[in-house]
Amino acid sequence: MTIATQHPDLKITQLTEHDAPEHYAVIDRNRDHLAPWLPWVPLVNSTKDIARFIAVSQAAWQGRRELACALRLNGGIIGGIGIVDSDQENQCVSLGYWLDHEMCGRGIMTFAVRALTQWCFNDFARHRVQIRAARENIASRAIPERLGFMEEGLLRQAAIVAGIRQDMVMYARLRTD
Ligand SMILES: CC(C)(COP(=O)(O)OP(=O)(O)OC[C@H]1O[C@@H](n2cnc3c(N)ncnc32)[C@H](O)[C@@H]1OP(=O)(O)O)[C@@H](O)C(=O)NCCC(=O)NCCS
Repeated sequence: MTIATQHPDLKITQLTEHDAPEHYAVIDRNRDHLAPWLPWVPLVNSTKDIARFIAVSQAAWQGRRELACALRLNGGIIGGIGIVDSDQENQCVSLGYWLDHEMCGRGIMTFAVRALTQWCFNDFARHRVQIRAARENIASRAIPERLGFMEEGLLRQAAIVAGIRQDMVMYARLRTD
């Protein structure tokens, strides 16, 4: 499955088993950039680990619970984006994302999150899209803020990342906003 963005060279594609080596290589060269914010980074130590993650995600997508995608610029993987949690009954999803550090600072993830949010409203029949970002994660928080998500509150010490308890800021956008 492919989701287009407003950037002509940027696409979101569902991860398949063929993507495992390339996806792992991008994660592996971005460990220092990703590990302070994403708890799963130290658990990913081989292409096999990513292949397993992709298989589990594909099964979860069958039940419409999760969607794991690659972010591709001119066909090459430059990051990850997806639905990390989907609450079907309440028509609510939570998004997650990360970007190769060499691609940061150009607005690429903002394009991608805008496209995935619209897709959740228009094609996935969801009413509420949530993003949770650590209070100190200024670059991540800037994305929902740029896209008109509402800052709804602070989830105190709601996550442990890199051994540190982090306060998480909850952002959400409704289809009707
Ligand atoms: C979170 C993360 C994806 C943000 O990356 P990013 O490059 O800052 O985000 P974008 O690609 O949207 O780019 C925004 C930057 O491009 C600039 N920019 C340039 N053109 C732009 C455009 N057309 N639209 C929006 N921003 C643009 C913005 O000013 C901003 O730069 P600034 O931070 O210097 O102000 C990245 O920091 C990352 O991968 N972090 C580690 C993992 C992580 O924290 N994930 C999120 C967990 S909640």
